[in-house]
Amino acid sequence: NLLEAVLDNNVDIDGFGACEGTLACSTCHLILPEAVYEQLSSDISEEEMDMLDLAYGLTETSRLGCACH
Ligand code: FES
Repeated sequence: NLLEAVLDNNVDIDGFGACEGTLACSTCHLILPEAVYEQLSSDISEEEMDMLDLAYGLTETSRLGCACH
């Protein structure tokens, strides 16, 4: 998933992925380009939605990096 891709690439985002992909934080919030967003095969689960609601700067194409692929 995207979180692993980010972690593998050692992208230095402060506090990114704090809960290590357990949908218990919103630090992996990603604002995706629309084209990418539409290509994701995973639907937003209720858990992801709840966490996204807490994410700063929520947009129409926001996803949590650890939950989308
Ligand atoms: Fe915590 Fe994704 S790393 S919700």
